[in-house]
Amino acid sequence: MTPDMIEIEIKDLAFNGKAIGNLESGKVIFLDRGLPGEKVLAEVVQSRPRYDVGRVHDIIVKSDLRVPPVCSHFGSCGGCTWQDLAYSQQIEFKRKQVAGCIEHIGGLDDVKLLDVIGSAERFHYRNKMEFSFHTAEDGGFTLGLHRRGRFDEVFDLEKCFLHGETADRIVHWVRDFVKQEGIPVYDVKEHTGFIRFLVIRATRRTGEIMVNIVTNYGEIPSWQKLMQGIRDNFPEVTTLVHNQNGQKSNIATGEIERVIFGLGYIEEKLFNSTFRIRANSFFQTNTTQTETLYRAGFDMLNPTRQDRVLDLYCGTGSIGILLAPHVREVIGVELVEDAVNAARENAILNEVKNINFYQGFVKDFLKTEIATKEPFDAIIIDPPRAGLHPKALKQILSIRPPKILYISCNPATFARDAKKLVESGYKLPAIKPIDMFPHTMHVELVGVFYDEKVPS
Ligand SMILES: C[S@@+](CC[C@H](N)C(=O)[O-])C[C@H]1O[C@@H](n2cnc3c(N)ncnc32)[C@H](O)[C@@H]1O
Repeated sequence: MTPDMIEIEIKDLAFNGKAIGNLESGKVIFLDRGLPGEKVLAEVVQSRPRYDVGRVHDIIVKSDLRVPPVCSHFGSCGGCTWQDLAYSQQIEFKRKQVAGCIEHIGGLDDVKLLDVIGSAERFHYRNKMEFSFHTAEDGGFTLGLHRRGRFDEVFDLEKCFLHGETADRIVHWVRDFVKQEGIPVYDVKEHTGFIRFLVIRATRRTGEIMVNIVTNYGEIPSWQKLMQGIRDNFPEVTTLVHNQNGQKSNIATGEIERVIFGLGYIEEKLFNSTFRIRANSFFQTNTTQTETLYRAGFDMLNPTRQDRVLDLYCGTGSIGILLAPHVREVIGVELVEDAVNAARENAILNEVKNINFYQGFVKDFLKTEIATKEPFDAIIIDPPRAGLHPKALKQILSIRPPKILYISCNPATFARDAKKLVESGYKLPAIKPIDMFPHTMHVELVGVFYDEKVPS
């Protein structure tokens, strides 16, 4: 044991996936690995006034909860945090995470926290993966996923257990193609170079695959060769698209899109409905668990045929389109133009006529006549991780629907918003967490708020 190594017992797991222990002084230390009950040998790498950050060098006493990870990248990859933890325990920690947010951020003590609905599929559950191209110091490049905790490091992916096997082969093939053709890789710091992302979307129910190459402005050099290579090697790829993103923000969406072959979209099934997914529009990433999530939400909402429903942050319209046959009318609101177009297309595709979509910021839409003139019986909220914009929350409170179904991918912002809704007189009887992403620290949840001032 080197002098600066210390023995620490792991007490708990933090929401960001770190392990928590205490130094001899009692000061909290966050560690990069370790499971509750384990004893580890670690060094302090950062000291802050209220806590330290440490790196584990060895696990001296192993927990019974530990299972062998299946992936060779586990530990260094930023994707999975808990592949070495028994799934039943992952679920338990996710429940604790929700409970902690509800108590400490929401201050809500009379909400019933239901058991987490686990995912039947533990691996290969993702229908979308984004791989980054990254310039390497030796002048070469890598194509894969980010290293754990490093936005500025990408490792060459060999195999990922969260998506299908074809996606692995596509990653390898595209990496070799870019190397052979000498296509310059985009440099995030310098804002130079060309190729930025490889995005693969593979539907679970229809077996369609979309390959999307995201680049800086310009034509892909030797794109005909790329097209032929994908066609020859991956007959299961149904469409290849090229998106150009010349903005500094390093996101895998494009301002200019070109369909190289196929229809430019893929179609996925949710229950008995079909959803068209385009490269730049949101679609839930775990198809099977999306049905679980929506079913849990609809069961809690318990809509009636007379209901007029507002579906905020509607993406490609899946929630509203599935709900519309069971209610009087649905209005969907979404910021991204491509998603709104896809939502309209999806409504036609599914012959749903009592739904309309509006493009724009939720906070702006809620001020319009469409939102304020005729009352809504229910509002559905499914925001990004940041939760509700304060102005949107204020306007929802002034519209004051009898029921609000809140679907959240972030228990912390949910708890913050729930606090405000409850303070204004809404009641939240129960929360149901759903695990959409096994082996990661993410957890979704649904809950319905009832206006206590409306007689039931
Ligand atoms: C978590 S997704 C939910 C999508 C959809 N409800 C579903 O289940 O597929 C959040 C959506 O909100 C959209 N969005 C983000 N900020 C927004 C805003 N301020 N106003 C309107 N839509 C927004 C995103 O583009 C994304 O499609």
